[in-house]
Formats: sequence, C-alpha cells, structure tokens
Amino acid sequence: MHISVIGSGYVGTTVTACFADLGHEVTAIDIDEDVVDALNEGRAPIDEPGLEELLATHAGDRLEATTSYDAVSESDVTFLAIGTPSNEDGSIDLTALEAAAEAAGEALADKADRHLVVIKSTVTPTSIGEVLEPAVNRGSNDNPNVEVGMNPEFLREGSAVDDFLTPDKVVFGTNSEWATDQLHAVFDPLLDEHDADVVETDPATASMIKYANNAFLASKISLVNDIGNVCKEFGLDAYEVMAAVGLDDRISEQFLRSGVGWGGSCFPKDVDAIVAAARDEDYDPALLEAAVEINDRQPERLLELLEDHVDPADARIAVLGLAFKPQTDDIRNSRAIPTIETLRNRGAEVVAYDPVAAENMRERFPEIEYADSAASALEGADGAVVVTDWDEFAALDEEFDAMADPVVVDGRRIVERRDGLAYEGLTW
Ligand code: UGA
Repeated sequence: MHISVIGSGYVGTTVTACFADLGHEVTAIDIDEDVVDALNEGRAPIDEPGLEELLATHAGDRLEATTSYDAVSESDVTFLAIGTPSNEDGSIDLTALEAAAEAAGEALADKADRHLVVIKSTVTPTSIGEVLEPAVNRGSNDNPNVEVGMNPEFLREGSAVDDFLTPDKVVFGTNSEWATDQLHAVFDPLLDEHDADVVETDPATASMIKYANNAFLASKISLVNDIGNVCKEFGLDAYEVMAAVGLDDRISEQFLRSGVGWGGSCFPKDVDAIVAAARDEDYDPALLEAAVEINDRQPERLLELLEDHVDPADARIAVLGLAFKPQTDDIRNSRAIPTIETLRNRGAEVVAYDPVAAENMRERFPEIEYADSAASALEGADGAVVVTDWDEFAALDEEFDAMADPVVVDGRRIVERRDGLAYEGLTW
C-alpha cells in the first residue's frame, strides 16, 4: 500500500517509520525542509529509541519525505498527524489541522479513485464532523471519492516505536465498510504478527476513545496522588498500600506511582480539551476537573513538606529533575515548572539539574542557576526537591553530605533514605 503522512512531528515521524517497516511505501509530507531532509537522509528529527534505525533502514527505499502535497493523490491512504494545541481556555485549537485537512482535500480534488483521509491527531468528538470533514470537502470540491476516518494513537514518548509495534488495541473510526477495509490493509501486516484487539467504530467514538483513555490514566494518577496525600497524613506509605490495591485485576498494578503529578504534551492538554468540550455542551465533568486540581496541588504539597524543614526565603534550593518524565528532554507541563515558579515566588535561590532537559528549561527560566551534575546542585544547598525519577538519582549517596542542610523532599520515590539525611517522601 502507498501511504502519505502529513506532519512529521513525534507522532507523524513514528508512524511514518513504522508503516515503512510494516512493508508499506510511505511518503512523509512536512512544511519544514530541515525535517524533510533529515527523513530523506534516514536521520530522526526527534530523539526516540529505535526510530533512527527504522528511518535509516527504509529511507530512500520504501520511505521518502517531501514538502509537496502531490504525494497525497498518488497514495492510497493519507494520515494527518498535525498537532492540536490548546487555546487560552484549554479548548482544542484546530487551526493548523484544519488547514492541512483542506490542503489534503485540494490535492484530492481530481482523484478518480476512492481515497481515505485518516485523522491521527487527537481531536474532540465534534471536530471531524463539524470542522475537519467539511475542510477536506471544501478543498476537494466535494469529491465523492474522498472519505474521512479516525485512527487515534496511544504512543508514549520514550517508547513510541515499541508501543506502535506492540499495541494493546488499534481503533478504526470510519463511516463505511470500505474505509474500515482500507485501515485493515494498513494495519494487517502488524496484526498478523502481533495479537491486538481491533475496535471498529465511527469517527466521533474513535475520537472520544482517545480522550477517555488519556483522561482515565491522568485521573488514575490523580486518584492515587489524592489517596497518597491521605496516606502521608496518617504516616503511611502509599506505595505499600497501592502495591496491594494493584493486585486487584480490575485496578491493575500500572499507573499507581504517586508523587508530584503528571505532565507532558498529552495528559494536561487532552484533559483540558475534553473538559472544555464538555462544558461547551453544558456539562461540568467534576471528576476530571478535580483530577486537574489535584495535579496542580502536588508541587505545592512538595514545597509544604520542604517548608517543614527549611524556610525557602533566601535559601539555596536544589531542584533535581526538570523533564516531565525520565528518558526525555521534554519539559512541556513538567511539574518542575510550577515547582521552580513557587520557589522563586517564595524568595528561594534555585539551582536546577537535569541530565538532558536543562537547556530547554533555561529558555523558560533564564534567571536561575543550572548545575552540570546532581552533586554540584546539592553542594551547599539548604534543601533539595526531586521532580523527575531519573535512575541516576537512585545512586546519590555521599553527595548529600555536601549540602549545607541535608534535607530532601522526594516527589518520585527515587532517592534512597540514608543516615544523616532528613528525607521526606511526598506520599510515603
Ligand atoms: C501518554 C499516554 O501514556 C499514551 O498512551 C498517549 O498516547 C500519550 O500520552 C499521548 O496522548 O500522546 P506520555 O505523555 O508520553 O504518554 O507519558 P506517560 O509515560 O504516560 O507519563 C505521563 C505523566 O504521568 C508523566 O509526567 C509521568 O511522570 C506521570 N506518571 C505516570 C505518574 O506520575 N505516575 C504513574 O504511575 C505513571
């Protein structure tokens, strides 16, 4: 099959490489010439394990990249993987995706064969019917051969290639049997090798499945954090409690790690977007709103625990970990941001360390100090908070002896307790 993928961001590049690996001929389309050049040379424009190997294997053979939309009509199926950022009020901003949908439609205006345009981006239940399908039709002059479907992605940063190649489920949201067959033709080489559930539904339901999935996972962490805060009040260890709770198959042991909360490019944006979409329909999703509120509160709890030991005003406080999770330099919605902001507002002198994300954080907070190791961040500090669970923090030991006041509040349960260190776990 010949597939075109519009948008070579983190999702688009991953699916481009993986579709090629499944044996399809793939053309990636992006407006950024540097990204296009990188893909054609088999280089990954983003850092994702396994991605560069796949690109290097298939570039120039089954995989090519271009800035031209001509490849759309030459392909059998087109995937749109364009970002859907948030507006000020948290609602979804479809501007870029709508423009790409219209451009894809224009490229298909004269196509005589049937063609499926698949939305890969995360969109609200009304986005396809009210905005994106009309945009494609506007572009194609209502070419009856063009149809729109939805195929949400469930990839995590840091394991996107692996997640694509070993999915729990794939979701096909279509309006016809023909469109479902097209998506089967795309995914069957994967489904023949890997046993995954296939959900066949309509585009609006497929859109909602993606939001419900992320809203559930984010809320699960917030619930665990809420319970964790209660555990802390009783002097109990939330990890011991949740390890037992997770033995219940209905709950599962995954996503039970309590701490300073969830961040990244997906959970915060997606929960905000579905909350805003629900409010638009005059429904207040109280539990989802509470999940966001609890998440916003966790960095404050971290600092309250610090304040039990140190007054941050004029104190030197080390912030260990800046990325929203380990193995990435992505700081989008990282819990380190409100943590640093609050420390600064309380008059602390902040020294931050992260093995890979410091440069990104420097753009956000140019005024704070950045250390080149955890050891030098700790040296002379009056207190430290841990925001990201980088493995290297588990090995910290004598480095704490160099602190002016050895106090650590751990937001991720990664630092080992040791003699001489005042150690506080956020929920344990
Ligand atoms: C998330 C979902 O896990 C993917 O399924 C989804 O496809 C993706 O969003 C998306 O919509 O694109 P991702 O944002 O890469 O993936 O990161 P996760 O590994 O899920 O972690 C999200 C946040 O939750 C991190 O800040 C992490 O530290 C936090 N987390 C995770 C916890 O605090 N506790 C846990 O037990 C698990």
